[in-house]
Formats: sequence, structure tokens, C-alpha cells
Amino acid sequence: MQAEQNELITRIGPGTPAGALLRSYRQPAALVAEFDADLDPRMAERPVKAVRLLGEDFVLFRDGAGRWGLLDRQCPHRGADLAFGRHEPEGLRCPFHGWKFAVDGTCLETPAEPTGSTLCNRVRQRSYPVQERAGVVFAWLGPEGAEPPALPAFDCFSAPDSHRFAFKGLWHCNWLQAFEVGIDPAHPSFLHRYLQDESLEGSYGRQFRAASVGEVAGERWPMTRVMREFGQPELRFDAVAEGLLRLTTIRPMSDELMHVRVTHAMFPATFVIPLSETITITQMHVPIDDTHTYWYSFFASFAEPLDKAAMRAQRLACVTLPDFAPKNGRHNDWGFNPEEQRTRTYLGMGEDDINLHDQWAVESMGAIQDRTKEHLGSSDKVIMANRRTLVKAIETVRAGGRPPMVLSAEEAAALTGPDTIDCIAPAERWEAFWTDAAAAKRAGAEWLRS
Ligand code: FES
Ligand SMILES: [Fe+2]
Repeated sequence: MQAEQNELITRIGPGTPAGALLRSYRQPAALVAEFDADLDPRMAERPVKAVRLLGEDFVLFRDGAGRWGLLDRQCPHRGADLAFGRHEPEGLRCPFHGWKFAVDGTCLETPAEPTGSTLCNRVRQRSYPVQERAGVVFAWLGPEGAEPPALPAFDCFSAPDSHRFAFKGLWHCNWLQAFEVGIDPAHPSFLHRYLQDESLEGSYGRQFRAASVGEVAGERWPMTRVMREFGQPELRFDAVAEGLLRLTTIRPMSDELMHVRVTHAMFPATFVIPLSETITITQMHVPIDDTHTYWYSFFASFAEPLDKAAMRAQRLACVTLPDFAPKNGRHNDWGFNPEEQRTRTYLGMGEDDINLHDQWAVESMGAIQDRTKEHLGSSDKVIMANRRTLVKAIETVRAGGRPPMVLSAEEAAALTGPDTIDCIAPAERWEAFWTDAAAAKRAGAEWLRS
């Protein structure tokens, strides 16, 4: 890849071509939980947060009626920082001269101006459409006055509150390499490999420790054993819709058995993968700026309700608030332990936090991967396909067109699922086996029946 091409597909600030493309989509701006006083005691005083998204700065707040407001961060008077604003029932007041703004950016008061001044009527702070879905506040930074697209009717957005959970984390790298780790189905055989297996008891909900659906000679296998023993998967991808790819990764295990893993990639930066037999993860990669990314994970359960308190506590243990910055990172070699690498794991960065493995992969490349120096192989074919789609979509937006996955309400309503699976299937009918297993999983979800 040429250096200019790498710049084109990675830089997302205001005025950049890829920035214009990514502003076509709704982007997660914060977890709703970030406004809980339990998580952030400052929220009891004042539900106001600075938010950086796509290289721009905003202030996100909730007014007294509970409505969300996302405004440009610099005050339209003389540019002071509204993230330090005084929170009032009708809106946010700049502490410099007391100008006050409603959630839609309307200027409500300019108290230092003479009585009868109409300045307030002539000022407006830019505000952005906000939508709360599945525990996340989504923002839309597209052109003012244009209609924001709809989010697809995916399981993660349809599951009831009891069966879904959202979390996020900060990576010190560009958004595209963060996404590219998720559309690389070969890496779990290596990066996430455990050198020994544990008993399947107590493995519930633990990625790669939990069992694959299906059996090997009457025995259940943990996913990690399959990944470890069969490291040369065959990779297929099919477009379910324009911009939505189904990735089917098959690992022939014997004449009789085939391991099948089905995941999805939604343009521009979302993947959907199985966490366990009954839980899926939908992960979005959201540029904070060119060199920082938040991943947002949406967990959806097709069986019992999620133990959200436990899931949150487990994940909070790995980050510092309020930024959800991982405790491990470049500053401490991501917790690398050579003894562990020799004896217990392929990577040597712990067994419990799978996310740390991916974090090392994407951060150790450098803030923006230099793609002029890479050598792609056949296991990278989804990454190559995605880059082609990305370049084409950038051109589409440049020409004033509509890129993939900018959905109308009807199109969004038709995009359900998508199915994910990780199973050991009979080799001669593996396709029927996985579709049946996925259908059985859906049939088990009470919330999909009502
Ligand atoms: S700078 Fe905000 S009111 Fe003056
Ligand atoms: Fe991974």
C-alpha cells in the first residue's frame, strides 16, 4: 500500500475524506452508565461530560427532564469550555459570562447583556442528534439538518435490558487497525492460545475456555483446544447485504468433523462474534481521534439474563475511570511475562483478559499502522476486501453518494440477527448443522418470541 492510501483510509478528523465517511454513521459517544453516580460519583453533582469523537470536542449532558444534549464544547460567546458548565434544569450555563444553552443548542440567556438585548436570539450552539440504544448514547455528527441513518435491528439492540450489557475500553491506536483485528479469524489460533486446557466447569461466559457446540467422540472440547490444534482455517466471506459480511471460518478436524465459526462484519467498523454458546458480542470501533479508539461491546444473551454486576466488575477491574483506560499498556509492556509465554500462553499477557491480547496486537503496531511495510497473506483476505470497500465508500461520499450501511428505517428493520456460532459439526453436513444450531439458539430466546 502507498503511504497516501494509508493516510486516506485512517485519518478521520474534520475535513478529511474518511472523516466525512465516518460522519455518515451514528457513533457511540458514551455509555449511559458513565452518567451513573455509582460509576462516577461526580455525576451526582452534575451529569455533564466532555466527549471527544472523530477528532472533535463536545460536551454531553442531560437536562433536568432527562433529555440528552450533545453540543460543541467551546462556548459560542468567547470560546470558554462548556464541559465546566453549570448544570441547570433547562440546560447548561457557561461559567464565564453565564450564557445558557438548551439541549438543542438554543441560547436561553445572555445575562451580562442589557435588558432587552436580542443577542441571545441570534446565537445558537451547534447541537447534534443523540439517540440512546442498548445502554449507549449514540451521536450523529453528519451535516446539519440532514436525516441521521437508523441503527440495524440487530439482536444487541433488540434484547431486553435484562439480557444485554454494554462496556467500552480505550486503545491507543487508530480505529482501522482496531477493527481489522476483529475481521481476522486466523489470529485466535495463536494470539489467544492457551497451552493447556482447563476443565469445562466454571468456563461459562469465558471466551475460548468455554466449550464449542457439538462433541468429539462423545467429548466436549473447549474452543481453545480446537483453535490450538487446527491453526490453518479456511476462510469464506459472503455479503448478506451491501456492507454486511458473513465470515465463515472452517477448520477440518478429521474426516468426520469440521469446526465452524461464523461471525459478521458490518461496515465500517463493527463485528459480531460468539462469546459462548448463548452470548454474542457486537463490537464497534469508534475513533476518538486518529490515534485513539474506543471499542464498545454490546453483549446479548439468548438464554438466561446476564449477570451485569459481575460482568461490569470483572471489566472495571482492568481499567481506570473515567476514561476506561486499560491498566496494562505500552507503559508496562502490557504486563508481559516471558515465563508465562514459555509455559502457559502463546502470548504471555495473562489468561483472563482476552481483550488485553487484542490490545497488544493493535497498539504494538504503532499508533497508525504503517501499511506500506506489511505483507498480507491469504488469511488476511477479509481485511483486503474491507479496505477495498472502504476506499470505494470514501469515493462514494466524496461524490455525494450514500455509502454502505447508511440505512433507512425500513432497511434497518430488515437487518436482524446476525447469527454467530462456534461449533463442531459433522463434516458432511456442516452447513446445515450450524444453521440448525443457530436457529435453536434463537428459538431459546424468550425475547425473540414475543
Ligand atoms: S465565553 Fe461563555 S459566556 Fe462568555
Ligand atoms: Fe482477538
